[in-house]
Amino acid sequence: MSRVTLTVNGETVTADVPPRMHLADFLREERLLTGTHLGCEHGVCGACTLLLDGAPARSCIAFTVACDGADVRTIEGLEDDPVVGRLRAAFTKAHALQCGYCTPGMLVTARDIVQRLPGADEARIRLELAGNLCRCTGYAGIVRAIRCVLSQGLPIAPDKPVPLPTLPSMADEGPSGQLPAAQPPDITQALRLAVPAASVWRALRDPYLVAECIPGARLTEAAGDRLRGEVRSSLGPIETLFRGEARVSFDDADRQAEIVGEGHDSRTGTRLSARAAVRLKELDVENTEAMVTIDYTLRGPLTQFARGAVVREFSTEIATSFVANLQARLSGGIVPAQRSVRVGTLMLRALWRRLRALLRLG
Ligand code: FES
Ligand code: FES
Repeated sequence: MSRVTLTVNGETVTADVPPRMHLADFLREERLLTGTHLGCEHGVCGACTLLLDGAPARSCIAFTVACDGADVRTIEGLEDDPVVGRLRAAFTKAHALQCGYCTPGMLVTARDIVQRLPGADEARIRLELAGNLCRCTGYAGIVRAIRCVLSQGLPIAPDKPVPLPTLPSMADEGPSGQLPAAQPPDITQALRLAVPAASVWRALRDPYLVAECIPGARLTEAAGDRLRGEVRSSLGPIETLFRGEARVSFDDADRQAEIVGEGHDSRTGTRLSARAAVRLKELDVENTEAMVTIDYTLRGPLTQFARGAVVREFSTEIATSFVANLQARLSGGIVPAQRSVRVGTLMLRALWRRLRALLRLG
């Protein structure tokens, strides 16, 4: 047993808990806060979402001991929250719940959207809801309710009575009740190579060399600006093989290159659209800065793994590995063992780094 002290809904709580007890179990079984629901218990469905130090978090995959010293707020602790009050009224009016199982987690996420993204449109709301699954409503009512509260604006005085809202019309909505694709924001980072800029630029114009430096990638055909290839990845037991086409463009004057492509993994039925751009800057005769930007959209079953922070670290790992491989190649060596590193390995490394940060292992 490990002793933890946390603040739960404003109350300081000290308890001895088993090291592997999840926060959701602790709250439900020890604190009887059963408003936090458990669905998948794998961090996928979002039913267990609560606020951890003010940010939405999945309590089914957070160890209680890792939350020592944290501020936890469950749906019960948001009873008097003015934004949640408005959301509750809007959910009622928009028929945004049926069985209600997803609703506590949905309200916590919706509150976050309202507070963090006052200008969110329907597409952005759907994107933000991608981590909260509802098997009853088809999401249309939930999106309408959130749009409605957004249209009322912030801040809301805490003691103000909650008005029954005017909902946006169904005609304003998109045709689909489906959740959107996962589309994280662009990820840009500056990486340094101890190689002259002209050599890096020459290398970037060789598609086979570039593919060799991308973990898990293989180029099968290059004709003009059209490329055809595949990217292999693994995440635990999930193996994917995205096959697709891309178009590459070069700006010699500014030493900028961009590749835009689409791929499909037939095993999971997931589609990937991606764009990567590199801009070179000569630092001195021997050193070059590569500004790498990656963004992508996933559609299909693997979308559920596209969570912001992990995806960001994953993309960072990809870019870092690419530049390190390029550096090795241009320094006269062969691409090291990383050449065979699969994307899944990078993901695990990124996950491990994130876990260490969460557990404050330094
Ligand atoms: S129960 Fe936590 S995400 Fe599904
Ligand atoms: S209302 Fe039933 S799961 Fe969302």
